[in-house]
Amino acid sequence: MALSIQTLAFLLAAVLFMHNQAHAAQCKDCFIHSRAAHYPNSDEKGTETGACGFGTFGATLNGGDVSAASELYRNGVGCGACYQVRCTNSNYCSDKGLTVVITDQGSSDNTDFILSRRAFAGMAQTKDAAASLLALGIVDIEYRRVSCRHPYQNITIKIDENSNYPFYLAFVIRYQQGQKDITAVQLCEDRGLTIWHVQTETFGCKLLERSYGAVWTTASPPRGPLSLRMLFSDDDGNESWVVPVNNIPSDWKPGQTYDTGLQVDV
Ligand SMILES: *[C@@H]1O[C@H](CO)[C@@H](O)[C@H](O)[C@H]1NC(C)=O
Ligand SMILES: *[C@@H]1O[C@H](CO)[C@@H](O)[C@H](O)[C@H]1NC(C)=O
Repeated sequence: MALSIQTLAFLLAAVLFMHNQAHAAQCKDCFIHSRAAHYPNSDEKGTETGACGFGTFGATLNGGDVSAASELYRNGVGCGACYQVRCTNSNYCSDKGLTVVITDQGSSDNTDFILSRRAFAGMAQTKDAAASLLALGIVDIEYRRVSCRHPYQNITIKIDENSNYPFYLAFVIRYQQGQKDITAVQLCEDRGLTIWHVQTETFGCKLLERSYGAVWTTASPPRGPLSLRMLFSDDDGNESWVVPVNNIPSDWKPGQTYDTGLQVDV
């Protein structure tokens, strides 16, 4: 029996396809092919009005190496996540590329990322190559999720200006770290009660709502010093509640930032 060329070609294609599928399933750290554009504005840094709600902070986060994401935005869960992004044109692009933080949502002509101009240029080998890259506007890239590192920064809570003490609390989580997503946030009343000289702790906890992006809100937050709990989750369903060192003080104020005292590497 002789197999036709067409049949052989088909079988080969099928085998290659299955191989790739198996590869994709096994390979957590592998690069994924995609495309990236850059913001049209002339500003080098990121946007101050990103969908994640980081505000002006979002423009300079990670030195301004930030990006909007399309699918990877994941309804705001992707805010604060870090990706290594490298372009693939060997004439212009460095092998390493650079790490960007997601601060916004957006896509343009089948892109997964819209990078700040600074980050887009940062994928190049040289200054001249950066100018050529920027002129191209959209380039082929490879990307993978990496652990976020913000040296010398603890995870920090910025109370939203729209908060109304003590009735309505909204805040953004800054300097998310590690490779997991923050998928839930709780506030617990941290009130030490002394009963018969025995120190007990009573906790009234409240789950917050992700209002949008990296913004968490609650009407009628618990009173007193507030103990924050963040649920860090990965794609494999591995999740853990992380409790910061510092409480949010009972007299929290709109516009203030509070250092959690916490660095995470998960
Ligand atoms: C889940 O995370 C913990 C802590 O990071 C780790 O020790 C454990 O091996 C992980 N489990 C799985 C199934 O990945
Ligand atoms: C981070 O928190 C630790 C306490 O856990 C504190 O000693 C340190 O000063 C904080 N770092 C910054 C940059 O605020």
